[in-house]
Amino acid sequence: MTDGAGIQSAASESERYPPPAAFVADAHIKSQEEYERQHQRSIKDPEGFWGEIAADFHFFRKWDRVLEWNRPFAKWFVGGTTNASYNCLDLQIERGRGDSTAILWEGEPCDAAGNPKEIKRLSYRQLLQEVCVFANTLKKLGVEKGDRVTIYLPMVPELAIAMLACARIGAPHSVIFGGFSAQAIVDRLEDARSRVIITADGGFRRGGIVPLKANVDEACGMTDLVKTVVVLRRCENDVPMVAGRDVWWHDQVKGASDTCEPEQLDSEHMLFLLYTSGSTGKPKGILHTTAGYMIHTAYTSKLIFDLKPDDTYWCTADIGWITGHSYIVYGPLQNGVTTLMYEGAPNHPDWDRFWAICDRHAVTKFYTAPTAIRAFMRQGAAYPEKHDLSKLKLLGTVGEPINPAAWKWYHEIIGGRRCPIVDTWWQTETGGILISPLPGITDTKPGSATRPFFGIDAAVVDKDGSEMGPNENGLLVIRRPWPGMLRGIYGDEKRFHKEYWSEIEGVYFTGDGARCDQDGYFWLTGRVDDVIKVSGHRLGTAEVESALVSHPKVAEAAVVGFPDEITGEAIAAFVTLRGGETPDPGIIDVLKKHVAKQLSAIARPKDIRFSDALPKTRSGKIMRRLLRELATKGRVEGDTSTLEDFSTIANLRGNTEE
Ligand code: WTA
Repeated sequence: MTDGAGIQSAASESERYPPPAAFVADAHIKSQEEYERQHQRSIKDPEGFWGEIAADFHFFRKWDRVLEWNRPFAKWFVGGTTNASYNCLDLQIERGRGDSTAILWEGEPCDAAGNPKEIKRLSYRQLLQEVCVFANTLKKLGVEKGDRVTIYLPMVPELAIAMLACARIGAPHSVIFGGFSAQAIVDRLEDARSRVIITADGGFRRGGIVPLKANVDEACGMTDLVKTVVVLRRCENDVPMVAGRDVWWHDQVKGASDTCEPEQLDSEHMLFLLYTSGSTGKPKGILHTTAGYMIHTAYTSKLIFDLKPDDTYWCTADIGWITGHSYIVYGPLQNGVTTLMYEGAPNHPDWDRFWAICDRHAVTKFYTAPTAIRAFMRQGAAYPEKHDLSKLKLLGTVGEPINPAAWKWYHEIIGGRRCPIVDTWWQTETGGILISPLPGITDTKPGSATRPFFGIDAAVVDKDGSEMGPNENGLLVIRRPWPGMLRGIYGDEKRFHKEYWSEIEGVYFTGDGARCDQDGYFWLTGRVDDVIKVSGHRLGTAEVESALVSHPKVAEAAVVGFPDEITGEAIAAFVTLRGGETPDPGIIDVLKKHVAKQLSAIARPKDIRFSDALPKTRSGKIMRRLLRELATKGRVEGDTSTLEDFSTIANLRGNTEE
């Protein structure tokens, strides 16, 4: 952990954007007094507050206690039984939304005129039927309550169907982002002890086919854990099927009933695992349970995106990340809206694809990442200006800090100055949004995620846990439990304690640096640990390092993030080659490809430098701060007095690719 604390920051931005009057008139929460009253209640009496919210959800058996808190273990809605798929589907149908569109999906391929070849609409009733058919299919394949099911699919409706089918029968899902490669699949499969994997022949991406099944085959060659591979036909590319292990989705669902009683699951039953990066090379399985997660995602969706049943809401994330879990699937569906899913790349066939989609489907609420906004900004306003974006009412961002220039472009060019922007801060671990504007009442300041949501006790502290003053940089912590919080790291209680609950005594440590201004607004300043955010995608330096050292020519590697105008952060790798190897001209490219193959294309280093040795302290720790400085500024100015051998720094300069 680096020390983000103690430095008085530059004066915060003073610009404010009050909620547009037309938006306020119709908002769920529109009065400051109502907000203050509810907020105070949520902090003083979180149990009373969340108990009231939970009354709007379906429980088969009502809970006995709202919260049981034995730090760091929280249990929410203790003693209750419920089912997330029931709340997403059956309950919506009971409330009269059976015929409204639940999932509106657009595939990537387009015809010569640029129109999408495939659009699908699934009503809540149809989605429930499909979910039941697949839930029954999973049962037939031997999946039982509690079994972890791995899902490695492209962004197609079947991905949401598979997740909800798992939720229906109480089999926790573990979704792996389609951009991860075979080794990453094996690590996650093995950690979850998952015997069933659901995949597709391929997925369309930027005009090409992502070979998902081939990656699964390669992964299965490295472990004998997997007994069943269910394969969805998507791209009709040729895939070999292994007899006795591989089955086609379309064959298996034949004859399955379209009704399936939802399992009555304990509130704390595991809903899913989602692997994310931390400070070691081993990804951690973040464990989320049923009732708290369900209620947190539903309630934040409702108030932060101000969802109403007639909304067409689009979150552009991939479901392989937490944003897609919480704010494409569980949150929006529990609000009865239409949630849009798009299969492909933002620039296929051209840079106006997102705006064409917004126009075509009259999207009302749009949620994306700052990286995407910066990339669109670079392409120019002509692309959005080709399309009618007048139906948009609200915009959101997530995943990394947004720079004020990108915020303003988004506000003006995409939102036509009419749409509030919700800059939402949260994490895989938090399950749902913790810090965000409420669009009907919060004056926004470009670059700030503004204030904590109801029930969230956030603070900026120093390493000893003392609260910092206004505008002083420190570390972001959460002092009290919230419903959507992680319940642990799967199979690793020690790591759960160590990474989240012991860095700063008694509170949840987020790993983020932040400051809080005189108005109580939070400004996030980025990670202070070994996590890098590349285009909003979360990667661990140690994961990239272990991918690099798995190459036979590499002896040692250290990886750091450095600022990048578009992707927020980019990866710089410092590499020592094995004895006798000299960096030949092709090696940089070879190593970049190797990382992409081992881990993921998103982990490919932008910059690789070589040295005979890496800068280390006398005790042998790699001095990342120096490397970060070198990657950022091209030179080192900081204190190097503890450095073992200063000559390594000299060697690391200037032998980059360019
Ligand atoms: C960063 C993504 C600034 C932060 C939902 C956090 C943000 C990490 C914001 C979690 C934001 C997320 N402003 N930074 N609005 N939202 N982050 O687990 O560093 O992929 O700790 O969850 O993203 O990344 P994760």
